[in-house]
Amino acid sequence: MKTTLGFFGAGKMAEGILAAAALQKDFDPQAVLMAEKVPARAKELAKKYGVRTTPDAKDVAKAARVIFLAVRPQDLAALAADVKPLLTKKTLVVSIAAGKSLATLKKALGREVRLVRVMPNLALRAKEGMCAICPAANATKADVARVAKILNGAGRTVVLPERNFDAVTALSGSGPAFFAFMEQAMAEGGRALGLPPDAARLLAEQTMLGTAAYLRQSGADLETFISGVATPGGTTAAGMDVMRASDFKKVVAATLKAASDRSAELGK
Ligand SMILES: NC(=O)c1ccc[n+]([C@@H]2O[C@H](COP(=O)([O-])OP(=O)(O)OC[C@H]3O[C@@H](n4cnc5c(N)ncnc54)[C@H](OP(=O)(O)O)[C@@H]3O)[C@@H](O)[C@H]2O)c1
Repeated sequence: MKTTLGFFGAGKMAEGILAAAALQKDFDPQAVLMAEKVPARAKELAKKYGVRTTPDAKDVAKAARVIFLAVRPQDLAALAADVKPLLTKKTLVVSIAAGKSLATLKKALGREVRLVRVMPNLALRAKEGMCAICPAANATKADVARVAKILNGAGRTVVLPERNFDAVTALSGSGPAFFAFMEQAMAEGGRALGLPPDAARLLAEQTMLGTAAYLRQSGADLETFISGVATPGGTTAAGMDVMRASDFKKVVAATLKAASDRSAELGK
């Protein structure tokens, strides 16, 4: 049976990517082979998407032409030891392993294999993911286009040089937790003003979602948008005065710097 798409690891992120690939017109679930060690998980994915599974990553390495490497970074060495002898220049490996550089991947998987590194985020699972893509020198333009086409089914993609990946890891990789923290702060602020907890969360979350949707749709300049909402003497202006007088932007910048520094450290 012909296998076009493979997965090393069939966890949360792999499922997000599979769901994106499944949206493509020419998607054939029987041409997908996923390596998954846990039988119950393999069964679940086979039932849900109609894909084939195997407990042995070597089967995927032998059969697939495009393989998403979606095991946890600490499992890369063990996986690579198994599959390295089977990967050729005909194979394109797309790694989403956080912190694993193209140089590290090349060393682990062999010089021949074509590589693309991707930094995704969890929102992939809601088809609103943000993925940064960086091809290795031996990957072709067609490789990048192919990867982007799959990932665009689960959100947005941007091609960036690898030197930007620690910053990407901080902003969009870890970002969902930071935005959730902001939502939590807004909901808690609403509760302090007497709102019921569920309503406070809904008001905060839908406002976050709606604001992002409006900004995307209108392409509005952020400062112009803020001034437009904050009419002088009004309620928004009263709140914005507090925000602008605070260290809010400094705290956000320090948050991103800490995450980026940690990403650089882990990648060493
Ligand atoms: N989650 C995020 O927000 C996020 C964001 C950016 C990047 N990433 C990256 O995405 C990758 C996957 O993350 P995840 O959250 O999807 O992890 P996950 O749910 O733990 O999935 C990893 C899967 O790979 C399996 N696995 C490990 N070694 C294997 C092998 N040799 N053969 C077959 N299967 C194997 C694991 O099985 P066992 O459980 O049995 O070991 C597990 O099911 C990681 O490298 C992470 O750095 C994640």
